[in-house]
Amino acid sequence: MQPLHLRSAGTSLVVSTHRGEAEISHWGADLGETLPDLAILNEPIPPSSADANVPAGLIPQASSSWQGRPGLRGHRVTDGMPGFDFSVRLRVVSATADGNTAVVVQSDPDAGITVTSHLTLHPGGLLELRNAVTNDGTSPFQVDELATVLPVAPDAVELLDLTGRWCRERHPQRHSIQQGTWVRTGRHGRTGHDSSLLFAAGTAGFGNRHGKVWATHLAWSGNHEQFADRVGDGRTMIGGSELLGPAEVLLQPGETYTAPALFAAYSDRGLDGITEAFYSWFRARPHHVAGPRPVVLNTWEAVYFDHNLETLIELAGSAADLGVERFVLDDGWFRGRRNDHAGLGDWYVDESVWPGGLTPLIEAVIAHGMEFGLWVEPEMISINSDIARAHPEWIVGPSASSYKDGGRLPVEWRHQHVIDLVNPDAWQYVFDRIDALLRDNKISYLKWDQNRDLLEHGHSGRASVHQQTLAAYRLFDALREAHPSVEIESCSSGGARVDLGILERTDRVWASDCNDALERQTIQRWTGMVVPPELVGGHIGPSTSHTTARTHDLSFRAITAFFGHFGMEWDVRSVTGAEREELKRFITLYKEHRALIHSGLAVRADAPDESLMVHGVVAPEHDGGIPAGATAALFAVVKTRTSFAEQVGRVSLPGLDPSRTYRVELLFPTPVDADYGHTIIEAQPVSWLASGAEANGRFLGEVGLPMPVLHPEHAILLRLTAF
Ligand code: GLA
Repeated sequence: MQPLHLRSAGTSLVVSTHRGEAEISHWGADLGETLPDLAILNEPIPPSSADANVPAGLIPQASSSWQGRPGLRGHRVTDGMPGFDFSVRLRVVSATADGNTAVVVQSDPDAGITVTSHLTLHPGGLLELRNAVTNDGTSPFQVDELATVLPVAPDAVELLDLTGRWCRERHPQRHSIQQGTWVRTGRHGRTGHDSSLLFAAGTAGFGNRHGKVWATHLAWSGNHEQFADRVGDGRTMIGGSELLGPAEVLLQPGETYTAPALFAAYSDRGLDGITEAFYSWFRARPHHVAGPRPVVLNTWEAVYFDHNLETLIELAGSAADLGVERFVLDDGWFRGRRNDHAGLGDWYVDESVWPGGLTPLIEAVIAHGMEFGLWVEPEMISINSDIARAHPEWIVGPSASSYKDGGRLPVEWRHQHVIDLVNPDAWQYVFDRIDALLRDNKISYLKWDQNRDLLEHGHSGRASVHQQTLAAYRLFDALREAHPSVEIESCSSGGARVDLGILERTDRVWASDCNDALERQTIQRWTGMVVPPELVGGHIGPSTSHTTARTHDLSFRAITAFFGHFGMEWDVRSVTGAEREELKRFITLYKEHRALIHSGLAVRADAPDESLMVHGVVAPEHDGGIPAGATAALFAVVKTRTSFAEQVGRVSLPGLDPSRTYRVELLFPTPVDADYGHTIIEAQPVSWLASGAEANGRFLGEVGLPMPVLHPEHAILLRLTAF
């Protein structure tokens, strides 16, 4: 069989089958049309090893003497006895390509196992891999793991992955790739605050805009593992799998288990090339958000649980006056929910707080020309709720019996439990309640929260995170189908559910409960490595952050929120005078520039001074290019702390068209901002500030421009206009 060769946007994927099993012979730089006979790649046989070449299979297998992490682990249960067919020997049955999708079917007739792999190389270079295993035998087959892996080239010697916690999601860590396996495990039953949104292997010192990088993302919102596996012979695989609980997937004859999709990208120009592949894929989806992303006011940090119609109508009026376009009522509106100890599951408007229902508020919001959004947490249940009292058996736990009948409950987390969506009656109840809310009220938007880990998560006494994750996905899908115009945000104690599985069924993620602009710079930079800014909520919080107690200038908070889906989470009734005028100005600036921010290419400079973050968005040059006079790019120069140097010095602005001339000017602060008493720029400005600088993209990228002297925890905003 001829190898399959998929090519797109500078990337080649070669799947060969000449050794009987499918293997990825190359994933990386585009190889052009002609391939040599790939048998020349067969490895030598080292001493004291198997007497055969060992392929790094598409599904790596011990039956080929692969000594790294296997692709498929499982066994057959025959006549009640587990452990049979523990080692399969998959051989290619068919390998075909249609356009840029290859389908490879491999089977072991003796073990009664077939694995089907779909590999699609999308137009922007993003690779999507989906593996599925089918039990062709006559007895049940227990799947313990079906991994999806890719080989990386030997010059990938460093690994970057992300970790975090509540209010500090997606921070990078990096180290050299050593022999052995580096595994990042998520046992949260949700994606997790510490989950690595991307696993990036690269050449020594790879950066934002230099070096070769091979990166993967696992599209799954339940338990999972991501890993880099360097085996004794020096080869390295990266990939991921769903982390299955005991006997969670027991395939009956004829049944199939489909593993979560693995998305992957290769770049020869650093992490920005990886980002470009992901953004291009997101933006080509037919259901990707379209149109201007409305300015949001979320009530959480403004009023918390203190719901009161008069206050909220006032807040809505104040928000509308500023230019807000979507008003989101957060937690606290449903029965019994005066604090976070009660009420989850009782998805009825609390009559004691809202005697007229939500309608008076919704009508006021709509009369102000804004959309109305509502917070829900459909996967959860409070012990202190009518629904838990009526159906104690719907509360998830490790025991077969309900806690009322002596079963054990998992430890509480934010005083709450999980509702068993695998139980069809519980699923239907939740669907009906949210469906009714959406039918009975003019709700355009749901902030869908998920605030706890799934611990000891069982259905009828058996582990069921896998089923619960699928049931939650079904709930999203069914509600979207019933209410296609309602937008959904994925929130999970801030940013604990950010992945491409949830983003297939939601329209934005809440990146973090931390609205501190300094923390947000890092959180948004790394969330934005995969997820485009139109899908990443960023809010201006109160002057003093509620989660870190740091105080920041409005301009720093606004410039930080600017590069996402912009909004506020602040009692804006208290914002008056000059500060209110400045806030209005930022809202206007966002509206003027959101089309560019939400469609452009992300650029992150490799700033040599570690106290600086320089990032921007550049208009893509398609359809005849950017017209003269149009805004071609926006950049933020962010000073995170003091540095050794007295000056910020020259800052290069990469990613521009080298031969095009641009006018660079400060969008913030302008002379008018001086009237607001800004001191972010020291007295002696750089010479180009007065009338702007003109230079071509090559000069701006290679030489850069000197920047004004900036105070730490402040930022300036630059606009580049095309000539
Ligand atoms: C979670 C979310 C917050 C807020 C609260 C409400 O913590 O991340 O944004 O919605 O719940 O209880």
